[in-house]
Amino acid sequence: MRFRFVKFRLEMTPMKNLMRAVLLVLAFAGIASIASLAADSGADLFKTKCASCHGADGKGETAMGKNMKVKDLGSADVQKQSDADLTAIVAKGKKPMPGYEGKLTNDQIQDVVKFVRSLKK
Ligand code: HEC
Repeated sequence: MRFRFVKFRLEMTPMKNLMRAVLLVLAFAGIASIASLAADSGADLFKTKCASCHGADGKGETAMGKNMKVKDLGSADVQKQSDADLTAIVAKGKKPMPGYEGKLTNDQIQDVVKFVRSLKK
């Protein structure tokens, strides 16, 4: 009986239900995107600001990266440097890499350095 009643309501209000479903999906998408922003802001920044040279995986296997001979950011050579060193490189740049001071906030620079750390092998 109950089931039939529900079914009847569903049939009677297809638009309303569609709207509800759409709203639900939008709400979930919104929550998911906020959550991923908070969790991966370093990764996202890296993708938009750094990947053109360093590659999405930090290995530097891009046309620009090969041209400029960037090191694999996950390699021991890079990872042995302190957080302060890496932060300074990102903020001030290291020729031919541009500095990001003023283009990214200090927090964003920290986040992106954390992401570089996550590339460690
Ligand atoms: C225009 C290309 C380019 C962009 C964009 C770029 N880099 Fe670089 N990056 C380089 C080059 C080239 C080097 C190597 C410099 C050297 O060793 O002389 C480098 C070096 C580094 C190093 C030090 C590695 C080492 O050699 O010890 C870090 C860390 C780094 N980049 C992080 C980043 C981050 C984080 C971003 C984005 C915010 C970024 N880079 C954006 C080209 C780039």
